[in-house]
Amino acid sequence: MPAPDPAPLDAAGPDARSDARPGSRPDLGATWWRQAVVYQVYPRSFADSDGDGLGDIPGVTSRVGYLAELGVDAIWLSPFYPSALADGGYDVDDYRDVAPELGTLTDFDALVGAAHAVGIKIIVDIVPNHTSNRHAWFLEALASAPGSAARNRYVFRDGTGVDGSLPPSDWQSHFGGPAWTRLTDADGNPEQWYLHLFAPEQPDLNWDNREVHEEFLTTLRFWADRGVDGYRVDVAHALAKDLSDPLRSKPETPGELPLDGSDPLFDRNEVHEIYAEWRQVFDSYDPPRTAVAEAFSAPERRALYARPTELGQAFNFDLLKADFDAAEFREVVEFCLAQAAEAGSSSTWVLSNHDVVRHASRYGLPTGTDLDDWLMTDGLGTILDEEQGLRRARAAVLFMLALPGSAYLYQGEELGLQEVADLPAGALQDPIWLRTQHTKKGRDGARVPLPWTEEGATYGFGSGNAWLPQPAAWSRVAVDQQDGVGGSTLELYRDALRIRRELQTDETLDWIDAGRDDVVHLVRPGGWHCVTNFGTEPYALPAGEVRVASAELVDGQLPGESSAWFTA
Ligand code: NOJ
Repeated sequence: MPAPDPAPLDAAGPDARSDARPGSRPDLGATWWRQAVVYQVYPRSFADSDGDGLGDIPGVTSRVGYLAELGVDAIWLSPFYPSALADGGYDVDDYRDVAPELGTLTDFDALVGAAHAVGIKIIVDIVPNHTSNRHAWFLEALASAPGSAARNRYVFRDGTGVDGSLPPSDWQSHFGGPAWTRLTDADGNPEQWYLHLFAPEQPDLNWDNREVHEEFLTTLRFWADRGVDGYRVDVAHALAKDLSDPLRSKPETPGELPLDGSDPLFDRNEVHEIYAEWRQVFDSYDPPRTAVAEAFSAPERRALYARPTELGQAFNFDLLKADFDAAEFREVVEFCLAQAAEAGSSSTWVLSNHDVVRHASRYGLPTGTDLDDWLMTDGLGTILDEEQGLRRARAAVLFMLALPGSAYLYQGEELGLQEVADLPAGALQDPIWLRTQHTKKGRDGARVPLPWTEEGATYGFGSGNAWLPQPAAWSRVAVDQQDGVGGSTLELYRDALRIRRELQTDETLDWIDAGRDDVVHLVRPGGWHCVTNFGTEPYALPAGEVRVASAELVDGQLPGESSAWFTA
């Protein structure tokens, strides 16, 4: 792949970057996404405007001012489409509507308008690998005969074994159990099987079918026409499949995918033809719409998704998976920057999202802790050191926000929220809990509704109940408890985002030898330095003006497990 030209920061020029807060943001131009701060909203858990216990679209709109003050460039909305919530909304009944319990298309338009009015972009989640089993297409497929056009939009196969009672292949679902479910006909007789890489309520689409392509092109245009600025593409690596008969066995784990695109299910070469077609839609708008791939591939092939002729950017979860360790963090950054440069893109960075244990808790657990096992103990015992977790989380976010590329924040991390590890079994809704026969709790502990106020039954989330119970300790970390409080995690994020906008210029980075293996020192153009002390011994900062620090300096020394930005 050709080396990219150095990317201009924004078409409006550096002056347009001066802080226009609160209230309005400068227009960052068509390349806004290259170094954006994107805030992920999990709509059902953000803010509930009507007291039904579920966060909703008007709830998000009511908090646009909060997000503007926080200083984010864009909101990524996890799915808000009609859904039975078999997988938290990633089981979509209708891609071109809003779930009635979350609002209406008019509410969505109002959110876009409110966000755009303060210079915040909107990114929607596109889920193209599977629909829900309540989608009109799947209902039609169920009512149609084997071999029909309606069935050919999905992956239906006869079973194997003498009476077809064995699944068509040994493929496993990500949520546990076989990736095939057998139908029964109206008379109760066993019928064909259908493929679902995730829950049975999420039948996989057949991307060998041209109709499927057209349907998603229509969906992309539908949201672009309503003003959305970009898309996050769910399971972007799995759309193209080798469905030749007999279906091939799939021994590889996602971490061991072949480098030649030959796995039957993941990261196949043909998947890129799909995104090249999507790019034409993105580029037919002014400004072009942006996209980011959630793609699991061999790390070396991630860049393919991020090419400017395809989705333009790809998530990497390398930092999220790294231990809080100087060498690991630096290695990840070097690798990811090289990957992004190879693609002609900018890197993404993320520490938490709706699928993982919140990083303030991960960093408080002993290195190597099995997070599924830890959740199964309800987080009990003494192994979680919350103070250490938060200290490291604050250090890590300053490190991340100093990097060139786009930073993705997950709602509530700006409050320093911990994972809710002790949700009662009866409250759990993640299909992982069910599909693993209650041996893995899944992801609900990262999806607990946000606390906005110290008081109130749901800490200001809404006037009714919350769909997942919130811990009592959250009254102390609610937004109103941190707002304006020097040293709070919320104010740390606000300061960091404001200063980042002020200091960010181009996309380069240099490393400076800190003289210690457990300290990382990086510098961005214009003399923007970030020092992160991964160790426990204080570190004497070089001369300069400290702009923000994750912990109070002591006699000019950076305490252990903290970061500081300074200008020199
Ligand atoms: C990735 C999403 O982030 C996750 O929440 C979902 O369960 C799967 N894709 C399936 O859509």
